[in-house]
Amino acid sequence: MASQKTFSEFQLATELPAWAKLQELYESQGKTLVLKKEFAADPKRFEKYAKTFVNYDGSKIMFDFSKNLINDEILKSLVQLAKDAKVTELRDAMFGGEHINFTEDRAVYHMALRNRSNKAMTVDGVNVAPGVDKVLQHMKEFSEQVRSGEWKGYTGKAITDVVNIGIGGSDLGPVMVTEALKHYAGALKVHFVSNIDGTHLAETLKVVNAETTLFLIASKTFTTAETITNATSAKNWFLSKTGGDQSNIAKHFAALSTNETEVAKFGIDVKNMFGFESWVGGRYSVWSAIGLAIALYIGYDNFEAFLKGAEAVDKHFTETPLEENIPLLGGLLSVWYNNFFDAQTHLVAPFDQYLHRFPAYLQQLSMESNGKSVTRGNVFTNYSTGSILFGEPATNAQHSFFQLVHQGTKLIPSDFILAAQSHNPIGDNLHQKMLASNFFAQAEALMVGKDEDQVKSEGATGGLVPHKVFSGNRPTTSILVQKITPANLGALIAYYEHVTFTEGAIWNINSFDQWGVELGKVLAKVIGKELETSADVSGHDASTNGLINQFKEWM
Ligand code: F6P
Repeated sequence: MASQKTFSEFQLATELPAWAKLQELYESQGKTLVLKKEFAADPKRFEKYAKTFVNYDGSKIMFDFSKNLINDEILKSLVQLAKDAKVTELRDAMFGGEHINFTEDRAVYHMALRNRSNKAMTVDGVNVAPGVDKVLQHMKEFSEQVRSGEWKGYTGKAITDVVNIGIGGSDLGPVMVTEALKHYAGALKVHFVSNIDGTHLAETLKVVNAETTLFLIASKTFTTAETITNATSAKNWFLSKTGGDQSNIAKHFAALSTNETEVAKFGIDVKNMFGFESWVGGRYSVWSAIGLAIALYIGYDNFEAFLKGAEAVDKHFTETPLEENIPLLGGLLSVWYNNFFDAQTHLVAPFDQYLHRFPAYLQQLSMESNGKSVTRGNVFTNYSTGSILFGEPATNAQHSFFQLVHQGTKLIPSDFILAAQSHNPIGDNLHQKMLASNFFAQAEALMVGKDEDQVKSEGATGGLVPHKVFSGNRPTTSILVQKITPANLGALIAYYEHVTFTEGAIWNINSFDQWGVELGKVLAKVIGKELETSADVSGHDASTNGLINQFKEWM
């Protein structure tokens, strides 16, 4: 087992030799680097910095890093930073099943869930591959039975609707992937209930029929208050619709969890439980049994392709030299902007309606992982860590907040994602061409900008001129996917997972715990009890007391 010491020969990223070098390079080159000039000076810049990932099925994804504020010397020092921070050692420890999540004493081993080449993958001396395979086999059988209509509800009718009840990683992954891969869907409808706001469950139950609905209770711990409350209300609704016979539950409820005891206590037959292990973090659990809603929706073979696409990125990440290693480069760029340019945010804008929940998914991945301020050496960082990740599907965003990206005072490094082949080439591909033209134009506009002379030559005069100037030189990474297939979506997610890993390794933080979500949960429990009585509360600060008492009066 690895202790944190192994990776903490340095305490702070700022102590790494390459950090000082990068600071120097930022001052002497980075902050004055003009992308337009770099392109003019080097006709091979695109060929040099655009990297193509080849998926296991031969399909390709291009990551064009050339519109980033880098040159060869900067890139070399960023790669040196990865070496100084021993990123590959931590990567190898992670892939070796060591307990790199040291604050919870756990391995970080979601890659074992997509190990479709079935090599031995060991945690604490045990090869976990056969166990993973067994659960996948169960998912395959079950999803095929439900999809084919062989699995019957309590009145003998086939299942038409699946309701996944979960939150955080037990919701965002399945929601995002089923939306992204809607093109591959069969006849089953899927619904997701995550919010404890009763509206979410109530509105979902309005559109389903108890006789033909399957509820998936998705919770790693099976103790998350929101999920268990929603699941209990769903169970009560089901029993109220079906005459109260508990034995009907077995045909309509399944659990996706690591906690067999709590699953049984809830009343779900453990035969209908799809398990996974504690080495799967919630935000990495889409590859596990938590993905059952995906397998039901798009079919098991497509789910398997999704896993294999991610596995291909794992292979790339572990086997490719640092200079060519795509997720590593993505992570290094993020550190470059975050720590040397003081960028606070990271925009991910997919030019793809199917990917409309992708930024929300990445928010948990990135911000729950790297929203930390203590190093693996147990001291506070003296530098900025996790970026604020945000995004919306472009081109919609282009007509709303892109104003700030183009002309605001902040530097917002942006990733744009486009699939070259549309699943819906309507209007003789007119829509796709318009979409793509915006994808190319946005990155170009952010880089080239528009100077005063140009604005004047277009007829603007006086005080209007500065309003129409675009500074340009704003960095983007364009990610051009051949097509959004299960395999390529798996690859894209794994890319961002390893970007997040790389950032965390350099910042020397533990990207795999989430203690920051605990305090609010504890306080909510206390306040929940106070809301049970009508008496005024006085034990909090004046604002919290005032709000609670006003709520009680209005409720
Ligand atoms: O509170 C945060 C969190 O623990 C996330 O990390 C996790 O994805 C989510 O809650 C849901 O947890 P569970 O799957 O155990 O219900």
